[in-house]
Amino acid sequence: MVNYKELGLVNSREIFKKAFEGKYAIPAFNFNNMEQMQAIIQACVEESSPVILQVSSGARKYANQTLLRYMAQGAVEYAKELGKNIPIVLHLDHGADFEICKSCVDMGFSSVMIDGSHHSYEDNIALTRKVVEYAHQYDVTVEGELGVLAGIEDDVVAEHHTYTQPEEVEDFVSKTGVDSLAISIGTSHGANKFTPAQCTRDENGVLIPPPLRFDILEAIEKRIPGFPIVLHGSSSVPQQYVELINKYGGNLKDSIGIPEEELRRAAKSAVCKINIDSDGRLAMTASIRETFALHPEWFDPRQYLGPAREELKKLYAHKCVAVLGSAGKA
Ligand code: G3H
Ligand code: 13P
Ligand code: ZN
Repeated sequence: MVNYKELGLVNSREIFKKAFEGKYAIPAFNFNNMEQMQAIIQACVEESSPVILQVSSGARKYANQTLLRYMAQGAVEYAKELGKNIPIVLHLDHGADFEICKSCVDMGFSSVMIDGSHHSYEDNIALTRKVVEYAHQYDVTVEGELGVLAGIEDDVVAEHHTYTQPEEVEDFVSKTGVDSLAISIGTSHGANKFTPAQCTRDENGVLIPPPLRFDILEAIEKRIPGFPIVLHGSSSVPQQYVELINKYGGNLKDSIGIPEEELRRAAKSAVCKINIDSDGRLAMTASIRETFALHPEWFDPRQYLGPAREELKKLYAHKCVAVLGSAGKA
């Protein structure tokens, strides 16, 4: 058993309070390997942004949970070495049951998500409450979820959104004791958030996705004033990466994300945490494909992972500065 405080990590309570008051959102970037972690820390130190290092159950399987924990501890020391002691949260993304949440609390995570959104309302409350009771003993913060995002949520695939019902949020928050709430207002996971048929076109033929349901967000804010809201599925799917991937042998179709202006607007509201994973995957893949195509003679992984890490860092810095507004807030 190790407590996150011994590792130099922080929970999300204080940074969410500041994000709410300052009208910005904290980036939650997923990581699975060293280069992603380095890029996140380099960008957030340079931009002086607090950051949430996010680990999915898939990442735990892929990279090994012990190694990830030590990497997060390393991230704290790395940030200091780079010259800035930024607040770093180690967060479990989409915890599916009590056991994985407990295991993460016991291993030094400072924050966990219990995703009971696929259960009945009553079962979601009971499961979330159980995780909160355990996590709060160690001052670990807990994110719950109400409403279902279309797309893939861990092993569960939902074809349609079930938007969060504002009438439920007060009851859910008070019965569970969660510290933040993930909601469904039209975002979804992955690089195919909308079909072209769901979009309109501007005068240049560029696809414009349907807007997020800010009316639902506002109704939720009214019912739980000041309470930190989380947006999952918030990649913007930059088209320059999709084009590079396809130019160099990839085959991505209908890749459409959430426009950055919408996320900017959300970040100014009660949304205090914005989850971004797919954009990092696209940046890394685009860069690696380009390097492979332009330098077929290279075979040292550093020759293609190095530029990919640089591209990732640029992407994360851009998110902090231009999308979330978290730059300068560490
Ligand atoms: O919400 C899901 C995240 O993008 C993590 O994805 O389960 O493939 O690691 P993953
Ligand atoms: P994206 O797939 O839009 O990056 O969403 C990531 C996410 O919500 C992780 O929990
Ligand atoms: Zn998610």
